[in-house]
Amino acid sequence: EQAERIAIDGPAGAGKSTVGERLARCLGYLYIDTGAMYRALTWLALQRGLDPHDGEALGRLAREASIVIGYPHIDDGRQYTVTVNGEDVTWAIRSPEVTRTVSLVSSHPEVRRVLIEAQRALARAGRVVMVGRDIGAVVLPDAELKIYLTASLEERGRRRYAELLERLGHDHPALPSFEEVLADIRRRDEIDRDNMQPAPDAIVIETDHLSVAQVLERICHMRGKR
Ligand code: C5P
Repeated sequence: EQAERIAIDGPAGAGKSTVGERLARCLGYLYIDTGAMYRALTWLALQRGLDPHDGEALGRLAREASIVIGYPHIDDGRQYTVTVNGEDVTWAIRSPEVTRTVSLVSSHPEVRRVLIEAQRALARAGRVVMVGRDIGAVVLPDAELKIYLTASLEERGRRRYAELLERLGHDHPALPSFEEVLADIRRRDEIDRDNMQPAPDAIVIETDHLSVAQVLERICHMRGKR
């Protein structure tokens, strides 16, 4: 099992990052959140004033930019540190502006080609839990274990809102309303749909009524049965 790769896919708010990070920690594997790579590129594109519709320019930016996910211990609630050309953008890539724009940036084949290549390189050595939308179907079609997490739109909205509330606090000016969070997830689902098919051999886990511990338990169970 030295080279095991675990793919976890699903829509926004299905619990991928929480489950993926915990699973990786418990196995001693590398946790790679591919959404952070798309977000980092989006952040840079916004900084540079690029048109998010311009796939060619964005593809070029993706090739030139240095997007790095690292794991220094910084105790401010982060799972990892993302840098773009050396700048720490770990929290900046969670801004409403990036969240609004990331699906459009990610929809360009020129962008996906570059980031998928980088993701495959990160997973080459194995012992990784890779989280995203298309990991099992496209990035690592021969992954040893593929999980597809889902939950209803309402439940995903509740989770995402609770997360923002926890991080920003009640009276933070950037805290969106629950309705805004829901609308954003709905809109991203729509745009992400093409890149969000579960792999035919993925195990689908509907998480609406499951705790994180219960989801982990099921994944470990499936892993044991292989
Ligand atoms: O997972 P997260 O919400 O951070 O992902 C942000 C966006 O990045 C997604 O809504 C999607 O548009 C894009 N993405 C993608 N393929 C992935 C991961 C993320 O297109 N593998």
